[in-house]
Order: sequence, then structure tokens, then C-alpha cells
Amino acid sequence: MRQENASRRGIGLAFVTALALALTASGRPMLAETGQGSNLFEQPKPPRQEWTFNGFFGRYDQAQLQRGFQVYREVCSNCHSLKLVAFRNLADPGGPGFSEAQVKALAAKYQIKDGPNDAGDIFERPGRPSDYFPWNFPNEQAARTALGAVPPDMSLLAKARSYERGFPLFLIDPIIQYQEQGPDYIYAILNGYTNDKDPNWNEYMPGHKIAMPMPLSDGAVDYEDGSPKAVQQYAKDVAAFLMWAAEPKLEERKRLGFGVLIFLSIYALLFFAAKNKIWSRPEAHVDLDTQ
Ligand code: HEC
Repeated sequence: MRQENASRRGIGLAFVTALALALTASGRPMLAETGQGSNLFEQPKPPRQEWTFNGFFGRYDQAQLQRGFQVYREVCSNCHSLKLVAFRNLADPGGPGFSEAQVKALAAKYQIKDGPNDAGDIFERPGRPSDYFPWNFPNEQAARTALGAVPPDMSLLAKARSYERGFPLFLIDPIIQYQEQGPDYIYAILNGYTNDKDPNWNEYMPGHKIAMPMPLSDGAVDYEDGSPKAVQQYAKDVAAFLMWAAEPKLEERKRLGFGVLIFLSIYALLFFAAKNKIWSRPEAHVDLDTQ
């Protein structure tokens, strides 16, 4: 009898471990260090926003990603690079859903450095879908000289910027699949210019000093789908777009994570049924008792 209990406990333990592993795997990947960890503690926490990509069944809102891209292209890209995103990614499944033709036309609007050619020269040519977004600045030094600080590349910004949510939330977050700290933070920064006298004061920037003056203003981006042309809407849309840029496979990962959970649950039930069957054979009891 003791052995039976032990094996039941063993299986229970294995299941809980597997479940925990599955939750971790389907939850956020390890968050990158911000390098400002201790500072972040003194900041007010960015308020949590509603996102369509929240939770187990979260998905990106295609129209929102398209608007967010428009904000990136017309405003943020003047200073920030997006080095890891290629034009063709805008047509990938689970993304903003632009057509191949739209992507081609968009890419052609950019001039891309290429070469050297046969004569040994670097030259410029119109962009192709396979090219990556070029940066407005030739190098970081030029950007720092012009702007007072280097604007961080935006490809991974939504994943790289995070903050401590503290106990017990950091235990609960993987379970409720809270992984929107990045977009919450970006949204908060864009709405954090609350000191009228100092354009470089930001409530949510670590240390409150930010080299970037408020980049958005009402009406600055001309939406075509009737969404409000207002700072809060721009901020929300661009934060969602940057989340997609940092994690283009989010939908696939969530689907997979959920599938793994279902699989493990069924597996555990089968395991349990098999165990009951094996241990209920009368011979087994006899064997046990005589040993
Ligand atoms: C005029 C140039 C400029 C524009 C336009 C601009 N930024 Fe910035 N941004 C910067 C600079 C410079 C920094 C670095 C600030 C610092 O380190 O103090 C920065 C930093 C940031 C940060 C990071 C704060 C951190 O935690 O380090 C975020 C988020 C950000 N920008 C978002 C945006 C978004 C979104 C847009 C478009 C709506 C945008 N920026 C447009 C120049 C710009």
C-alpha cells in the first residue's frame, strides 16, 4: 500500500512539474535586463492597458498594427531604427497583413545603401521587400550629436523594456500570461510628459529625465480608418505595433502553449487510468503483500 501511495505521489509530482514547465514555456521568454533595474523601483508603475493580445487567446488586431506602423513610419522612424524588421515581414501571417504589392510599393519608397559594385562604389537603390528598414542616421555618434542621446532601436524595445511588478504579481504573471509590460511601458512613456515647464521630464522614464521630447501631438498622423487622431490612440497603436515587431510569432506561440497544456492534461489522465489499472490487479497485491 505504501508503494501505491508513493507512486501516486510520484505521478502527481511529475504532472505538476510538467504543468509548471508548460506554463513557463508558453509564458513570456526571459525578459532582457534593462540595465537600470534598481532605478526602476522608484518609478511609478506603468498602468496596465487592455490589449487584444492579452491572455491565452490573445491576437493582434490587424487594423491596429497597420495604424501603429503608420505612426512608426511617419513619426518615430525619424529618429528610431527598426533594424531587425524587413519590409516583407509586414506581409507575414499574424502581422499587420499588408499585401505583397503594398510591401513592394512601400519598400520602393526607401533608398537602400548597397554595394560595392564592380567599380568598388557603394551606391543607393530603391528598396526591395527583402531589405531591412534603414535608419535615418549613418551611425550612433551622428544620432547622439543631433538628438543628445541615441534613440534605442525599436525592433526589441517592447521586450527589452520592463519593470518589476513585485511579489506576488511576478508569480502570477506567467500563469495569467501577463507579458505586456513592454507595450504598457511604451504607452506610459508617450503619455508621461506631465510637467509643463520641462519638456524633458517624464513621469515613467527611469530618473524622469528623457532626451526625447514628446514626439506625438493630436492630429499629427492622418488615420484613414476613422480612428481618433489623438495622442492616446497613436500611443496605443504604435505600442501594439512595436509589440508585434518584438514578437511577431506571439499568436503561434500562444496556440502552441495551449496545445501543449491540452496534450499534457490528456496524457496525465491516461497515465492515471493506466496506473489505476495496473495497480488494481489482484496478483499485484498478492505480490506486494508477500514481498
Ligand atoms: C526627435 C527624435 C525622436 C523621435 C521622433 C522619437 N524618439 Fe523616442 N527617443 C529618442 C531619443 C533620443 C531617445 C533616448 C532618450 C534617452 O535616453 O533619454 C528615445 C527614447 C525612446 C524610448 C525609450 C525610453 C527608455 O526606456 O529608454 C521610447 C519608448 C521611445 N523613444 C518611443 C518613441 C516612439 C513610440 C516614437 C514615435 C511615436 C518616438 N520615440 C519618436 C528620440 C526620438
